[in-house]
This record gives sequence, structure tokens and C-alpha cells, in this order.
Amino acid sequence: MMFFSGSSSKSPWPPTILLFLFILNIALVSSTKTTTSTSKISQGYSLISIEEAPNGGLIGHLHLNKKTNIYGPDIPHLQLFVKHETEDRLRVHITDAEKQRWEVPYDLLPREKPPKSALHKSVAGETGEIPFLSEKSSAGSELVFSYKSNPFSFAVKRKSNGETLFDSTSENSDPFSNLVFKDQYIEISTKLPKDASLYGLGENTQPHGIKLHPNDPYTIYTADQSAINLNMDLYGSHPVYMDLRNVGGQVTSHGVLLLNSNGMDVIYRGNSLTYKIIGGVLDFYFFAGGASPLSVVDQYTQLVGRPAPMPYWALGFHQCRWGYKNVSVTEAVVENYRKAKIPLDVIWNDDDHMDAAKDFTLDPVNFPRPKLLSFLEKVHSRGMKYIVLTDPGIGVNESYGVFKRGMADDVFIKYEGEPFLAQVWPGPVYFPDFLNPKTVSWWTDEIRRFRELVPIDGLWIDMNEPSNFCSGKCKIVKNRPCPGDPGWECCLDCTNITTTRWDDPPYKINVSGVHAALGFKTIATSATHYNGVLEYDAHSLYGFSHTIATHKAFMSLEEKRPFILTRSTFVGSGHYAAHWTGDNKGTWENLKYSISTMLNFGIFGVPMVGSDICGFYPAPTEELCNRWIELGAFYPFSRDHANFYSPSQELYVWDSVAKSARNALGMRYKLLPYLYTLNYEAHISGAPIARPVFFSFPNFTESYGLSTQFLLGSSVMVSPVLRKKATKVKALFPPGTWYNLFDMTQTVIGRGQYATLDAPLHVINVHVYQNTILPMQQGGLTSKEARTTPFSLVVTFPSGASKGDARGKLYLDDDELPEMKLGNGYSTYIDFYATLNEKTVKVWSDVQEGKYALQKGWTIEKVTVLGLDGIGESLAVDIDGMPVSDMSSAEFSASDLYHLEKLEGDTKKKGMMVEVKGLELPLGKKFSMSWKMGI
Ligand SMILES: *[C@@H]1O[C@H](CO)[C@@H](O)[C@H](O)[C@H]1NC(C)=O
Ligand SMILES: *[C@@H]1O[C@H](CO)[C@@H](O)[C@H](O)[C@H]1NC(C)=O
Ligand SMILES: *[C@@H]1O[C@H](CO)[C@@H](O)[C@H](O)[C@H]1NC(C)=O
Ligand SMILES: *[C@@H]1O[C@H](CO)[C@@H](O)[C@H](O)[C@H]1NC(C)=O
Ligand SMILES: *[C@@H]1O[C@H](CO)[C@@H](O)[C@H](O)[C@H]1NC(C)=O
Repeated sequence: MMFFSGSSSKSPWPPTILLFLFILNIALVSSTKTTTSTSKISQGYSLISIEEAPNGGLIGHLHLNKKTNIYGPDIPHLQLFVKHETEDRLRVHITDAEKQRWEVPYDLLPREKPPKSALHKSVAGETGEIPFLSEKSSAGSELVFSYKSNPFSFAVKRKSNGETLFDSTSENSDPFSNLVFKDQYIEISTKLPKDASLYGLGENTQPHGIKLHPNDPYTIYTADQSAINLNMDLYGSHPVYMDLRNVGGQVTSHGVLLLNSNGMDVIYRGNSLTYKIIGGVLDFYFFAGGASPLSVVDQYTQLVGRPAPMPYWALGFHQCRWGYKNVSVTEAVVENYRKAKIPLDVIWNDDDHMDAAKDFTLDPVNFPRPKLLSFLEKVHSRGMKYIVLTDPGIGVNESYGVFKRGMADDVFIKYEGEPFLAQVWPGPVYFPDFLNPKTVSWWTDEIRRFRELVPIDGLWIDMNEPSNFCSGKCKIVKNRPCPGDPGWECCLDCTNITTTRWDDPPYKINVSGVHAALGFKTIATSATHYNGVLEYDAHSLYGFSHTIATHKAFMSLEEKRPFILTRSTFVGSGHYAAHWTGDNKGTWENLKYSISTMLNFGIFGVPMVGSDICGFYPAPTEELCNRWIELGAFYPFSRDHANFYSPSQELYVWDSVAKSARNALGMRYKLLPYLYTLNYEAHISGAPIARPVFFSFPNFTESYGLSTQFLLGSSVMVSPVLRKKATKVKALFPPGTWYNLFDMTQTVIGRGQYATLDAPLHVINVHVYQNTILPMQQGGLTSKEARTTPFSLVVTFPSGASKGDARGKLYLDDDELPEMKLGNGYSTYIDFYATLNEKTVKVWSDVQEGKYALQKGWTIEKVTVLGLDGIGESLAVDIDGMPVSDMSSAEFSASDLYHLEKLEGDTKKKGMMVEVKGLELPLGKKFSMSWKMGI
């Protein structure tokens, strides 16, 4: 022990409320005397000093109260670091005061470093020497930090309403301990009010929907476990949750990130939550959030990285499968989509194009380069794109250039000084160590070489949990075919590794739902990365580091916005890539689960997400595939993908599915300007593209667990059919008028209750909320084609209202540019406004940087206003403030609206849809139009 002396142990703040202190003092005395509960594994720590740190934070020192031996020896001295990093963000970092511990690397996830453990004076007498309670908040900060000194605990409160957001105090009656901090076991808990609604903690398939369910297991450790598995640690690691509270109609939401890459079990009991982590440090970030859940995602992504901008085509439809055997088969798929008149933007190959499943190669027989190039020329000439798969495992093969160059550069993860041998699709493989800068350069070079071979438009990185078909220490067996048949059976000769405490830690997290060994079917946890980093610590960062390396490669090779799809994700992955939910099953249950997982990823800052449409395996029924494309057409990332062993499930395979696809994807392609604007909003503020309904209606408690419907942006609601043979759907409608996007005269007056909607096989219910201006185009068979068509605006007022306001926005840019931003001369941003007042309807725009939109020649040809009481007359239009005198081409038309449910007590107000057609308003110029409402 090496505490040094010299600093004061006095609190730098004036004493807070004395009475509180007094009460607390008593509580402290009684609780330290009676902590005897046997289920608790610790008596915690005591805070022996606390002082202001030079950079504006607080540094405290903790001494262990009493040793225990369960899960290994305790760390005797801890350093606490607390800082209000922004007005909305509070960090609480606790680590060993004497030794450097593993943390998520600061170059991988850039953030402020806490001060080095400045070893600190030991305080004689310890407890009682420092104030029992102190509170710390910074000017403007919404979060207040407070602590109790013995046993040490801390709380985070919201300044504006005094509410406690996090409180790690353990009372006698609590089923959890005070702080436990051992080398391989860290435990900390928080109490929660019973009515708090929590969301997040993934990746996991949640059978109970988006809202965390008490006593469901939440284990976080990346694993090649498919989305079919419920309540299990899946491909990604996101130890973050959002907490939504509604006290008497006053709603607040906040976020809590525990930035730690080690495996953990999170136990949610409804009124408390406990983290049991097998390494690293406690690095908590509390996000104050606010009245809107969007504020939580905004503050979260401000720290972990704003979602990546997507190229426009990425929002189009994607078709993939494992088993497009050759170029001709792949080409036929593209042609069949065209013949069936179903939109398609991107055609994918799984590993079929590869030579013996080796990354960055082409099968000389089935994917000969000249043939592939001429196919891609056709694809590209239509404005379509091509993406292929790669896996991180590099085939061990002395005649394979990628492998040879990797060996020469020494890029692979090591075990006992040798590259760690594993097996994936090519047979024996080594795993590149993306924490090593040399690996990143090698990977960039391999991508460069491959792009010279094949002009791919993006990259799919799969199996990066990483997945290994074997476990432990393996050898290649001479004369045994490897891969064997089937290719996913281990064909190496392996022995389990149980020799170190990393392979066999004292506390076993619930890996794969069966407390599997940490190294089971992945890299051995005692294997090492660059600089001696243990796989034990860095395991869940593998996919993240792979993603960053891939992104870096694309950014350095071409001045173009990259598109990367990754299976394994970590905190911050959304800054670089899109995600799909991995292998799912073609069942009705899986159709439903896809919504919760998609919504979770929005909260995780990975808004570009979707599930395999029609299911990865086995064969879906025709009916299921109909319903799946109706839902999947509204996933942010919309891709049909299937297993090698499944029969074809492209959308044209069944006439009925083709019809549903034309309908649903037809609407998606009309909504592309809206989706692309949502992509921009995600990029600047973290706002999820697909959101839970409560995001727009945070005080509407009925929607807190709603997992069968969702919103795109703030006001388009998708209510899919999720049950076999159903021809109606019960959908929850928050209060207000909702207009059916497929037939805007069909309205629902939401009263906060479920309404039964017709939903025959080819119908997907999509509604737009009142007070919205939705920019749309006319669609097309590719996004490129759709993007050239004229715009229309859909303006929604509350049905029959005499007064109303509506707003909307539109972002446009050259989507090939790496950055998505205003101010570069290649983008335009437009706010749309509309008012209804004293029988006058007014619609206008405010344009920022209109030049780009003008160059593109985009115009608005139609404005549809919903909810009015009468038709229009005396239309007046201004462009850039100048009245347009000749409006002879513009014409009004009007239709009645039909309400699914009549307005209560006011059945006479029926409302109208008024359309103004024949307009030619340049999108890049401010316009204003108004008319009087007739009868
Ligand atoms: C919910 O919020 C809206 C708008 O902020 C308000 O009009 C409404 O009265 C609130 N409802 C409840 C139940 O508090
Ligand atoms: C491509 O594969 C299909 C399906 O196996 C086969 O019928 C066809 O002959 C192949 N075409 C070429 C050019 O190899
Ligand atoms: C190495 O790759 C080549 C080319 O694909 C293949 O012919 C050979 O069988 C592979 N060797 C091994 C040992 O897998
Ligand atoms: C290795 O461990 C796995 C599970 O972790 C177990 O199923 C298997 O039997 C073990 N193999 C040997 C040879 O002990
Ligand atoms: C481990 O996870 C599985 C799968 O969710 C679950 O059935 C089991 O109860 C969990 N075990 C514990 C101890 O939580």
C-alpha cells in the first residue's frame, strides 16, 4: 500500500443541510453495525478523502472495510473520480488506486481521461473524518452527485425535481451488496422506483417487448448466438439503459451507460438493478435527458459518436442470400426484380463469390472476374449497388496472399506466442487483431486490393463476435479435410483451455444462457492482443475494432461516404456502421421480435438497423413473407436475406408477396426524402430513425411497453400485422388525428385507445399524425430514379379544427460526399410551415442554402392539406417574396375524409382533403402560398 500524504481530507464545499446530515449520520451508524446479511458478499468500502481535482472533477479515495474471499481477493484501495463533463452528463469512474486496470481503449472510443491514480494520503481514523454527506453539482448542471462515506455509496439526483436517478446504497433489507471491487468481480447496484420504465441493455431478443422485464436475464458478452435465442447475450454489447419516469403526468427520461467491455450479468428486479462484471472498471456516464426521450439519445450519441451518415441508396431495398451460386444466378435475381416491378437498390453476395470461403478472393469458376465486372457495369449503370460479405477469420493457407501478407506484418491475435488457431468457413483461420495499428494498415491494403479487383460499393462484416467453430487450443490434423461436412463442425483437434483465471474466472456470467465457458466457440480468453491486452478484456470489442478498421479503410481509399454492415456491435458502433439483427427464424414470433430489437438499436445509437426480411431460415410461408415485407419495408435497413439451405424467398417468388412488396416498398420509395432527412437528424442529434411510440408521446403511459407498432421519425406510425391469418390489426392510437398514408381520406381519431383496422393480406397500416408536413416524392424502381421525381407536401391539421399549425423539414445533399452537413455547397435544408387560422390556410418554406436544390432542379408539384373544413378559393403564391401572377396551371380538388371512429360528441365535423396540383415551386426557393377556405 502506497498512499502518500500531503492533501487535505476536508470537504471543499460548505456543509449541506444539517438536519439531513444528522439523519444520515444515524442511518450510517445503524447500517454499519448491522450489515450481517449472508447473501451479501461485502461490507463495502469507506470513503477516506475527497477533494477537488485539477480539471474540475472530484477525486476520492476508498478503503476496503473487510476482506472476503468469494470471487477472489478484494482490491484494497480505490480511486473515485467524479466529473460534470457537460451540463447534462455526469461521469463517475471508480478504479484501483494503485494499479492501472483495463478500460475501453481511449483511442477506440475517444473521451476524456480521468486523472492518473494520484496516490493519496492515508487518513488516520478514517471513517468519520470527512463529511458524511456532500453534494456536488456544477453551475448549469442538471445532475447532482452525492455520497455517503461508510459504507461508501453514491447517488445521482435530478436538480430540477430532486428525483433520485441512481442510488447505490444497500440497506439491510436489500437483496444486493454494497460496492464490491475485486480483480475479476465488480458488483454495484442501484435502487429504482417501481414504476420506472427501462429500455436497453443488449443485444438481446426480448420476448416481453422493448420494456425491460423484471427477472429476465440480461447478460452482456458478444457471442455468435442467433436472434432466435431469447433473453441471451447475442452479437453485440450495449451496457446502457434509458429510464423513463412519469410522476403525476410529469415525464422525464435519463440514460445510464456503464462503459465496460468485460462480460457482465445485469440483474433487473423491477425496483433495483445490479451489475455483476468480471473485469475492467466502473465507468458510469449519467445523461440527464429531459422531458423528451430524444434528449437522452442526443446526449448519449454526443459522447459515443453520432450515427454514421448513410448514402441515399442504402435507404433503398436490399436483396441478399447465401447461395447465389454464380454470377448468372445473381444477375437473374436483379432481372426478376425488374420484371416484377419491385424496387431494388442493392444486390448482395454472401460468401458464394469467394474462392473456398477466403476473404477478398473470387471463385474462378462461378464468379470469374470478367463476367462479374460486366454484370456490375450493368448494375452500376442503373444506379444500383453491389455489396459482398467478409469475415474476420483469415484462411491459413500458404498460397493465399491475404494470409501471407498478414503473417509478414504479424497482424494476428496470439496464444502462447503463436497466432491463435481457430476455424470458420474457410477451415483453419487466424484472427486479425484490430487493436494493432499494423493490422489496420494491412486490412486497409487488403480492401484496396479487393476494390481494384471488384468495384464493391460497401462491405458486410460478419462473424465478428468473433465466431469460432472450435473452442480452446487447436491443431490442424493432417489428412483430415477441413472444412469438413457440414462446414461449421469443428475439424481441428482441440483441447479446452482451463489453465488460467481468465479462461476460468471465479464468477461465471450466464454466457449463451448456460454459463458456457467464456472462450466457448470464440477466441480463448487468455489469448493476447497488441500490447499484451487480454482477449478476456477486449473480447466484446472485437466487432467494434473490426468496424472502425473497415471504416478507416474506406475513408482513406476514396472520398466517398462508406456503407458498412456489421453483425457485432459495441457502444459507439453506430458512428461507423449499420447493423442487422443476425440470424433469425421465419416465424411469426420472430417477425414480432424484430421490432423490439430494431427499437433497442435506435436507443443504442445504431439507427440504421433491420432484420432479415422473411427470416433467415427455414422457409417462410407465403403469408408470413407477405407480412414481413409489409413490416420490413419500414425498417430503416430493409433487406431480404436467406440461408443457403432455404428455398428462394425473393419477393417476386410468390405473386402475392410481389404485390405486397410493390405496395409497401412503393410507399417506402415515396418516403425516401423523409427517411433521408431522418438519417440526417440521426447524424446530427442521435434521433433514432425508427422509434418507440412513446418517443413522441412521452406522457402517454399506455405506449410505454408498446412493441408491436413504431414510429418513423416523430409522426409516421407503422402498425403491422404480426399474426397468422389476421385480416385486422388492433393498433394503439395516441390522441389526435392520424391519416392513412395509402389513402389519406381514411382517418383515425386517436383517443389513446386501441382501434381495429382493416388489414387484408396486401395492406400495411401506416399513418401520419396531425401537425406534420411530410415531404414525399413519386417513388421508382431505384432510389436514384425516385430521387429525380417531383416533390409533394402532405400537410396535416387536426381533423375539422378551425386553428392549426404544422411543421416539417427536408434535408438534401450529394450523398456520395463523406460528410453529411450543411455549408459545403452540396446540401440544402428546408423548414416547412403551415397554419390554419380564421379560414385561411397558409403553407410556406424557409430555405437554407438553396443553391444545391436549385441546381438539381427539384420542384414541388402538389400540396395536400388534410383536416380542413372546406375547399379552397383565391389561391395566392409567392416565390422568394414575389407574387406569382399566373397560377392558371394550379387547381384545387377536394374529397371528404372518412373517420374510422367519429369524434365524440361532435359528429358534424368531418373534415376534407384539399389538394393543390399543377404547381411548379422550385424547392430551393422560399415559397409561400395561401388561400381562403370556402364551404
Ligand atoms: C401530455 O402532454 C401533452 C402535450 O405536452 C398535453 O397536451 C397533455 O395534456 C398531456 N397529457 C397528460 C395526461 O398529462
Ligand atoms: C449457375 O448456377 C445455376 C444453378 O446452379 C446453374 O443452373 C447454371 O448453369 C450456372 N451457370 C453458370 C454459367 O455456371
Ligand atoms: C489454399 O488455397 C488454394 C487456392 O484456393 C487451394 O487450392 C488449396 O487447397 C488451399 N490449401 C489449403 C491447405 O487449404
Ligand atoms: C470442453 O468444454 C466444453 C464446454 O465448455 C465441453 O462441452 C467439452 O466436453 C469440453 N471438452 C473436453 C475435452 O473436456
Ligand atoms: C441464464 O440464461 C438463460 C437463458 O435466458 C435462462 O433461462 C437462465 O435462467 C439464466 N440463468 C440465470 C441463473 O439467470
